[in-house]
Amino acid sequence: MQETVTVNLADRSYNIEIAPNLLAQAGQYVAPFLRRKRVAILTDENVAALHLETLKNGLASAGIDATTLVLPAGESTKSWPNIQRSVEWLLSEKIERDDILIAFGGGVIGDLAGFAAAILRRGIRFIQVPTTLLAQVDSSVGGKTGINSPHGKNLVGAFYQPQLVLADVSVLESLTKRDYLAGYAEVTKYGLLGDAEFFGWLEENGAAAAAGDVAKRINIVRHSCQMKADIVARDEHERGERALLNLGHTFGHALEAATGYSDRLLHGEGVSIGTALAFETAMRLGLCSQEAPSRVREHFANMGMKYLLGHIPGDLPDADGLITLMGQDKKVSDGIIAFIMARGIGEAFVTRDVDLAVVRGVLQEALARR
Ligand code: GLY
Repeated sequence: MQETVTVNLADRSYNIEIAPNLLAQAGQYVAPFLRRKRVAILTDENVAALHLETLKNGLASAGIDATTLVLPAGESTKSWPNIQRSVEWLLSEKIERDDILIAFGGGVIGDLAGFAAAILRRGIRFIQVPTTLLAQVDSSVGGKTGINSPHGKNLVGAFYQPQLVLADVSVLESLTKRDYLAGYAEVTKYGLLGDAEFFGWLEENGAAAAAGDVAKRINIVRHSCQMKADIVARDEHERGERALLNLGHTFGHALEAATGYSDRLLHGEGVSIGTALAFETAMRLGLCSQEAPSRVREHFANMGMKYLLGHIPGDLPDADGLITLMGQDKKVSDGIIAFIMARGIGEAFVTRDVDLAVVRGVLQEALARR
């Protein structure tokens, strides 16, 4: 049960290996990239407690020594102070241009470590070892790295591709249901943006995968990575098509900002609620039939995912406050917000032509139902 997906980017191409128990075999995958048998690992407290020993043993079995920096877990780790701390630590560990940094964790660690790799000594190589479903299907693939600014999420960063991604699906067994489902929101995104057949497969098989079916989990990670790899190969720097991967994110980022990037709302939860709002907006704009948002909400409900504003605890800004937060999105250009809309399941497109009065109406109704 091993799958390989290749991200084709000429001399920066790399493989994504997807299988159970890959941490224990990490040494054999990492060794070919090394000039000396030593790596640096950047991880967080939660991942270190659960999996660091397995990874280190896997590396040691190929004679690879590892030095590790363990950072606090959580979105607030993706910050200026932690990028400084990481880079200074790598320098103090004498990590050189030809060495490898391993990003071992979820999206926060992957983005932070990737950015540290991008700027250390003008760029050292790094390997992604993602430990959440979200990171395995999305953030570890495609080279987006960076940190948050007090002005907003992911506003500081670089496109910088890893050398390899090791997606060990056994690690997903240690995720809470909440974290698994937050990552699953990004999985549904691939079906909803461009592959109606995959969304249909998820409607049939998503629950079994969530319950632990390993073959179905491998299929989920493989299919998601293949779709992402194809999009990234065509549009690495998000001049066009790659923006489709932000389906649900314009709404979602505003909700994350409104909840202070806190435990009140995980990124993937913002994505599932944002996706439901995006499909509702598309329907109100006459772009798709009522069936599309209904199917989205029904699948999210069946999976036990968050898809309503009422699923977010605590106060939220009003509709205009949320629209103002959308204005901080990276996709804003000349003050106009880009939205990912859809003509149906699997038929998403990018547009700057969304009437904000319709968005306001959708948000006002959704807020009123809380
Ligand atoms: N997560 C969206 C992207 O990588 O483009």
